[in-house]
Amino acid sequence: MKDEHRLNRVLGPVALTSLGVGCIIGTGIFVLIGVAAHDKAGPAVTLSFAIAGLACVFAALCYAEFASMAPVAGSAYTYAYATLGELLAWIIGWDLTLEYTVASASVAHGWSHYFQDFIGIFGLSLPAIYARAPIDFDSTTGMFTTNGALFDLPAVMITLVVTVFLVKGIRESAGFNTAMVIVKVAVVLLVIVLGAMYVNPANWQPFAPFGYSGLSVFGHTILGHEGTSGAPVGVLAGAAMIFYAYIGFDSVSTHAEEARNPQRDVPIGIVASLIICTVLYIAVAAVITGMVPYDRISIDAPVSDAFRQVGLGWAQFIISLGAIAGITSVLLVLMLSQPRIFLAMARDGLLPKSFFGSIHEKFRTPWKSTILTGIFVALLSAVLPLRLLAELVNIGTLFAFVIVCASVLIMRKTNPDADRPFRVPLVPFVPIAGILTCLLLMFSLPAENWLRLVVWLVIGFGIYFFYGRHHSILTKHKE
Ligand code: ALA
Repeated sequence: MKDEHRLNRVLGPVALTSLGVGCIIGTGIFVLIGVAAHDKAGPAVTLSFAIAGLACVFAALCYAEFASMAPVAGSAYTYAYATLGELLAWIIGWDLTLEYTVASASVAHGWSHYFQDFIGIFGLSLPAIYARAPIDFDSTTGMFTTNGALFDLPAVMITLVVTVFLVKGIRESAGFNTAMVIVKVAVVLLVIVLGAMYVNPANWQPFAPFGYSGLSVFGHTILGHEGTSGAPVGVLAGAAMIFYAYIGFDSVSTHAEEARNPQRDVPIGIVASLIICTVLYIAVAAVITGMVPYDRISIDAPVSDAFRQVGLGWAQFIISLGAIAGITSVLLVLMLSQPRIFLAMARDGLLPKSFFGSIHEKFRTPWKSTILTGIFVALLSAVLPLRLLAELVNIGTLFAFVIVCASVLIMRKTNPDADRPFRVPLVPFVPIAGILTCLLLMFSLPAENWLRLVVWLVIGFGIYFFYGRHHSILTKHKE
């Protein structure tokens, strides 16, 4: 029987791992590493990567257990629905929207940075009004500011192109993604191997110029120092920012329904993609901070610029191109994941099924919500800057990870005998460590992000109480 709300099962373990890597390596390692090294951690950004990677490993193991138990589209939303009930599931689904849609917008900015770096090699540049987002946030005054720009044209352009690709179909998109992943990993390996030859160990001194901590509770720094903006600096603060670079491994679980053998392959995809990226990141961070003194690392296109600074113009060219390809694939997977979360929520009646559950007759994709996602991503990336979006994404994702880790603990108590093809090792240590490390990183982010997270959640509550609660499948069953 043909179910109009079902997706095609075409993905194996390699394709899933590749989707994971496709979604992980992008703006974080190619762009944000610059700010993290320059303003937050110095050469000790390598440690920041290790700490953020560890928090993700704990969360990834928890994701993997759930993904093996409930192999349907929807990621953490579905797990929360099964364990914590409808309201909390809604919260997490809404929070994942923050993760995927806002992350897509920030990733589109990263693309724009490298696009501009690339055309800059040929002496070209965009008119300043189209080169960046017009709005920024000044943490010292707590006010939004404008800079005279109109909108970030390349960010909007790439978002619209990716949207068209996604409406056309997963099979083509997954093939395109694999090609992009190969290019991106090859470029990262080039950075590591070639860059290693230009490392000057003197650049690693002082190793942690901003200290090893950087923790604040709602704006009061309790460990480490404050930077000029009033936000904490240090290795932990660097980890909270660079955490962004790891986001995406969980997207593997949103494709469970398109996996051929989800119980086995989704956990493999999640854990394998995360481990591969952690190793590559730590190596890239060591190389870049070894090539250039931390206070001379570019904050726009740090990786390619490090090669320009050591006189390797040809490598800057290749790396810029590779970053453009790599970041495109991140955007592709993030924007592929968002409509699948909406689809899961629509199936439970929390969003209108006629719109969010609608699968295209010919392309078999959730085309309406894909287009809606594209429009939102384009608008956000047009006007809001990378750092602001990235921090918001981080706090939202960390919050989702805390809930997923907690859900594993709850589920082990409430359903001890459920079939778990993949089990988190060392329970309760791993989930508890996941909760604590993610909370630690949440507190190392600039404090205004807590407020933004709360505002986002309040909007979500509004939608739930006006729409979801009255239309949900659970409510209908009770009636
Ligand atoms: N991890 C993704 C990136 O760095 C979001 O682009």
